[in-house]
Amino acid sequence: MAAMPHLHLSRLGGPIILSLMVAVVTGFRLPPASEICCSLAEESLILCANSSAAGGGKDAAPAVHIALVTLATPEIYGYAAYTAAINAAYAKTFGHSFQVASTSPHLAGAGQQLVWRAGNVATILDVLESGAGGADWIAYMDADACLVDFSAGDALVSALRQYAGEEVHLLMSRGELIGPGSSSLFNSGFALLRNHPWTVKLVRLWWSELTKTTGNDQEMLERLYRSDALDAKRHMVVLPIGLFYNEIGDPIAGPPQEQHVIHLAGVPSEVRRGVFGRFWQGLCAAASGAEGALADEASPSSTALQLRFV
Ligand SMILES: *[C@@H]1O[C@H](CO)[C@@H](O)[C@H](O)[C@H]1NC(C)=O
Repeated sequence: MAAMPHLHLSRLGGPIILSLMVAVVTGFRLPPASEICCSLAEESLILCANSSAAGGGKDAAPAVHIALVTLATPEIYGYAAYTAAINAAYAKTFGHSFQVASTSPHLAGAGQQLVWRAGNVATILDVLESGAGGADWIAYMDADACLVDFSAGDALVSALRQYAGEEVHLLMSRGELIGPGSSSLFNSGFALLRNHPWTVKLVRLWWSELTKTTGNDQEMLERLYRSDALDAKRHMVVLPIGLFYNEIGDPIAGPPQEQHVIHLAGVPSEVRRGVFGRFWQGLCAAASGAEGALADEASPSSTALQLRFV
C-alpha cells in the first residue's frame, strides 16, 4: 500500500493534517500472506524464512540492495523462528535478501565460548568474504532482534541516506552506558556494514583480535574504534539510541515507525517467544487483509509491542 509522503501533508490545514497523518502512519506495506511464511507451522518457519527471500526481491528492485543476515542454532528456534520469519518478510517487502546462518567455517573447532562472544562477527565475515550476493550493504541482526517497521518507507534505506556519507562503511547502534564486560559504546546486536574492502579488513581484524583474547565482540570493536584502527573513526557512525536499539532496561521505546528494530537482549527465551510470536501473528493477519485488533498490533504506529513487553 503506497502512502503519501509527509511533505505533501505539511501544506494542508491543521485538523486535516492530523487525520491524514493517522491514515498514513497506520498504513502497512506488506506482501500478500501467501508470499511470506504465514500459513506454516512453527517448525517450518526457519526453513521457509531462509528460502523465501534468499535471492532478494527482484520485483521490488531497491535502489540500495541490503543482505539481511542472522545466526541461529536449533536450541534457540523457539523464538528465532519468529524473528527469522519477520525479518524475511521485511526483506521480501523492500526487495532485500535474507539468510539464516546456522554456523560458520570460522567457528569450526571453536569452543562454545567463542561462539557466544564472537559468533556474530564470524557470520558477518562469512557474508563479506562470500561477496554478500552482490548486495550494497549487509544488515546483521542477532537472533533475538527483528525489524518491525512495515510502514511505507524502508527504515534501513532511510537510515543509510541519513547517516551513511560516502566514507561511512559501518553503522552501529549506541550501546548501554555500562557493560557487558567493559563495553559501553556499541551494541553489536544490529549493524549495517557496507560491502566494501575496508569493511572486510576491519571485520577480519575484529575477528582475529577476538580469537586472541577473552573479550567480547563489543569490547573488542570499541577498542579498535577508540584506537582509530584502520581510520575507524572516519568510517564508522554511531546511531542514536532508540532508532534500531534501545537500552536493555527499556528495549521497546517507541512504536515501530520510531524504533525500527526490537532487540530483546538479556530477556528470557519465553518472553522473546511471546513478544515475537504475537507480532508475527499480527503481521500475518494484516498480510491476509484482516482488519481488527490483531492486525493493528503489528501496525507501524502501534504501541502493542511496548505494552506486551511491559
Ligand atoms: C540457509 O540457507 C543457507 C544457504 O542456502 C545455508 O547455508 C544455511 O545453512 C541455511 N540455514 C538454515 C538455518 O538452514
